[in-house]
Amino acid sequence: MIVYNEDARTLTLFTPHTCYQMKVDGEGRLLHTWYGRRPAAADMCPDFYEARAPHQDPGCWPDLLPLEYAAPGVGDNRIPACVPEYADGTQAADLRFAGYAVYPGKYALPGLPAFRASEQAQSLRVTLRDAGGLSVELWYAVYDDCDVITRAAVLTNAGERPLTLRQAASLCLDFPGVPLDFITMDGVWAGERTPARAPLRPGEQTIGSTKGIPGHGHSPAAILCAPDATETHGECWAAAFVYSGSFELSAERCEAGARLVCGIHPYHFAWTLEPGASFAAPETALVYSDAGLGEMSRRFHRAIRAHLLPPAWADAARPRPVLINSWEAFYFDFDEARLLELARAARSAGIDLFVLDDGWFAGREDDTTSLGDWVADRRKLPDGVPGLCERLNAMGMEFGIWVEPEAVSPNSALYRAHPDWALRIPGRDAFEIRHQYTLDFSRPEVVDGIWEQLDGLLSSCPIRYLKWDMNRSLATVYSAALPAARQGEVYHRYTLGVYELQRRLTEAYPDLLLENCAGGGARFDCGMLYYSPQIWCSDNTDACARTNIQYGTSLIYPYETMGAHFSTVPNHCTGHVTSRQARMALALSGTFGFELDLTKYSEEQLAQLRPDIEWYRAHGAMLRGGELYRLLLPDEKGTGAAWCIVAPDAGEAAVFCVGSALAGRGERCPCLVLRGLDENAVYEDEDGARWTGFLLQTLGLPLPGAFGQMPARRWYLRRVEPEAAR
Ligand code: GLA
Repeated sequence: MIVYNEDARTLTLFTPHTCYQMKVDGEGRLLHTWYGRRPAAADMCPDFYEARAPHQDPGCWPDLLPLEYAAPGVGDNRIPACVPEYADGTQAADLRFAGYAVYPGKYALPGLPAFRASEQAQSLRVTLRDAGGLSVELWYAVYDDCDVITRAAVLTNAGERPLTLRQAASLCLDFPGVPLDFITMDGVWAGERTPARAPLRPGEQTIGSTKGIPGHGHSPAAILCAPDATETHGECWAAAFVYSGSFELSAERCEAGARLVCGIHPYHFAWTLEPGASFAAPETALVYSDAGLGEMSRRFHRAIRAHLLPPAWADAARPRPVLINSWEAFYFDFDEARLLELARAARSAGIDLFVLDDGWFAGREDDTTSLGDWVADRRKLPDGVPGLCERLNAMGMEFGIWVEPEAVSPNSALYRAHPDWALRIPGRDAFEIRHQYTLDFSRPEVVDGIWEQLDGLLSSCPIRYLKWDMNRSLATVYSAALPAARQGEVYHRYTLGVYELQRRLTEAYPDLLLENCAGGGARFDCGMLYYSPQIWCSDNTDACARTNIQYGTSLIYPYETMGAHFSTVPNHCTGHVTSRQARMALALSGTFGFELDLTKYSEEQLAQLRPDIEWYRAHGAMLRGGELYRLLLPDEKGTGAAWCIVAPDAGEAAVFCVGSALAGRGERCPCLVLRGLDENAVYEDEDGARWTGFLLQTLGLPLPGAFGQMPARRWYLRRVEPEAAR
């Protein structure tokens, strides 16, 4: 619900549990006055700015004003949300309120992923204008069924001469002067999205990427929270950027309080707007929780499921295939006979879908060659991709395949035919990373060329699943198709090209299960989740490492979006040996697949996998649609954690406990205190043991104690009739 109060000139947005307010002051500036808990009745909502004491004199110090959308050059020296440069070199904008409108449904951002249209949504447009010609439309959407507020900004040149945008953010959020912690999800390759939390210090603290993708270093999302906020207590504000390119997310502690800004990274960004032209800054989604980080995450998860994921896959009840991926089994070393042998073993364990990873195309024996030539290597696949697919289908197995559409190897037919299709600075050598260049996806003809190849591949046989990889960051960014003055557009146009190709794929093949991937989890963001309901979380499948990575990822993104595979020990990435149950627990909590050479498994070992696969089939819908409660957080090394996933009606739950967490907090008879259950109900586990919800949430579930290398246990609890309680 969105309400304008004419007397106070406030605009207030209500979600079921949160409230967001801005106000037009006497000078026509748009102030940000509140983002927090909502009053029970909307008509009890105060003018938060007037109510705050001591009240500042707004006239003197723009630096002290809580502003809704900040621009430089007119007295506010904090981080700006947009920087226009006018034709005469002026870099300033004095943005004043010029009107608002409320619309049913969700605003759209053509060409960009965004939270989806819905009858549950209502949108607000607020227009701000600078006398120099910049007009800013701030867009907001609220959904009646969940606690997310989305924001976008459309910047238009309403003047008579061209202007250039040097910076464009969709989020600018000012906070009063209370202490705050800043939480980001940081990492490296094979160690993505590890939460880092520190008090917000005076000055700017910034995360971001200039890589053209978010990269392994930081997830494009962040949280500000009260210093005492925990999983179950305290105020938190989370922002997730719906974007998959270079980004900047900055928090600044300043005299007035704090500011959070999220937008496209200003490095190499310059977007010229001719008179009348507009630019849309990608959307940011916001969640506020006054009940700790756990509730904050659940609010994000619900919103992502209901309003962001591809509709074809959003229904948790739609089964997802259990897959086997050939990468860690064979890497590049396979032929069709080996693949079929792996598929037979996988089928006998009950696996549904076979994914042929890297190495299947045009002479690709290692990572030095052939990217861009998406035709089968006949030495490995004598009857091409359709031949392999047919044989797999005949054994009752579905088929999926790996591609890296944005890449080209210097040694490839594609590169020989179109050397100018690679990003390269004139007069300099193109820069190889993992022996490959990046295609210039800012050029429509390049996107068309790759689309033709992919369309040919996907229409050649029933391909049910596609893994889209992207194994390098951008470098030598320059497009042969754009003039010098417009090179600052290439990074963003590149990302738009990626979105365009993913749009074509998902529209032409709506049933295709698309899994995005970027050298592991370097592009795990809300932009990608708009196209693919799952993203490969990390190349590290070690259970210890995954405990941390999946925990950090779950701060914003739902568990079932995390590509997670059961793999062998010693782990290929870390050499660690962890228990079979721990590896299962981590894979079952995510998308659940396998990635190991099952041809080395005996009949008996294969048979041992069946109950786990059946368990996923039986409870997958609940796992994909349930509410996540993080019960014991992992330590830095990820050696122990516990979490549970509870059905929205609390009728069933899956509990996972790994590593040292099995010893609880070190007590003699360790117990794990659960959350999210119905205290008045009785629950039964798979062995017939029963407890009341009250007992499980007070004393806890009895734990067996920890012994061995990363042990683990899981429980499935089901509500039973109360009279059956013991
Ligand atoms: C990346 C992916 C892996 C695998 C390889 C293939 O590293 O993250 O899962 O597909 O590429 O080259």
